[in-house]
Amino acid sequence: MTHDAASVRALLGEILAALASASESDETRSLRERLERFVAHSDDALTSAVLLEASAAPLGAMRVFPKEARGLVGAKANAIKQAALAALAEEEQAALARALAAERSHAGFDATLPPPRQACGSLHPITQVTRELEDLFTSMGWTILDGPEVETEHFNFDALNISPDHPARDTMDTFWVRTAPGDTRLVMRTHTSPVQVRAMRRLQPPFRAIVPGKVFRNEALDASHEHTFHQMEGLVVGQHVSVGHLIAAMKTLLRGIFGREIEIRLRPGYFPFVEPGFELDARCPFCTEGCSVCKRSTWIELLPCGMVHPNVLKAGGIDPEQWTGFAFGLGLSRLVMLRFGIDDVRHLLAGDVRFLEQF
Ligand code: PHE
Repeated sequence: MTHDAASVRALLGEILAALASASESDETRSLRERLERFVAHSDDALTSAVLLEASAAPLGAMRVFPKEARGLVGAKANAIKQAALAALAEEEQAALARALAAERSHAGFDATLPPPRQACGSLHPITQVTRELEDLFTSMGWTILDGPEVETEHFNFDALNISPDHPARDTMDTFWVRTAPGDTRLVMRTHTSPVQVRAMRRLQPPFRAIVPGKVFRNEALDASHEHTFHQMEGLVVGQHVSVGHLIAAMKTLLRGIFGREIEIRLRPGYFPFVEPGFELDARCPFCTEGCSVCKRSTWIELLPCGMVHPNVLKAGGIDPEQWTGFAFGLGLSRLVMLRFGIDDVRHLLAGDVRFLEQF
């Protein structure tokens, strides 16, 4: 509907006539003068804002009109108000259309371009590497297992051949969970190894499994120590499983991680749940002559591993005369740091978006 300025002016004229017929007070005079100014406006300059004010004035000042004129003035003023609101709405529409037209006529505007990309999150670097390793191991027929993060003392220590007075209980800086005296003692698991025994009890040998997950230690925190970090346990139980199988599996693991053949070496290492136990080092994937990552040695400590101790097999209900196995404990957090060049382990779980956005 096109707003009709002339009809509004006519309505105002009628209000003015009503005012003139009344005995003029100071108030009615000032009102009349304001309305006259509006009417005197040229059509072009009769803006919506002026109309609104014109409609509000008589409505707000109704009591200055003589009784017999109030009915007429009220009706006219309402009509003006309606016209003004309609004019405003029309003007808004027109402004929108003008803005759109201006944008469309803008040089270089291309309606066929895709809209701006929606900001989209990404997977945490630990999740990325975990999934890659899960793909790698499942492609070789391994199973992925999970275990509780709050673990019994039995699975975390005893079943792993760590005797009650063994220093490993202390060296692991255990977070003990407060329980009532006499109740099963609970810990925040200090490693993923307890799932070794849980797996043995659940699965029939032969089997191969990895266990990615969170572990907890009461550490003094610094760039390479965090109270919560990630490990990935590996466990193979079968007939005639030997150190040779362990080495082959670890070389495959490295090929999967770094995308090429990487030389390894085994050093003796001690863990009560493996015998023999090893520290496996890999040739530094970042240099040939020594760099800051390998501390100028060209070797990086990659993971502890070894042949499953017969006592652990027994704790898992498996006959060590019939079955053997190997296990490894990959430091997932450390591996993620190596892979992405992250210099402080505390970044991993700090939840800072500025860090996470980079992956
Ligand atoms: N669970 C040991 C640790 O945290 C690592 C390990 C796993 C060693 C498996 C040998 C075999 O630290």
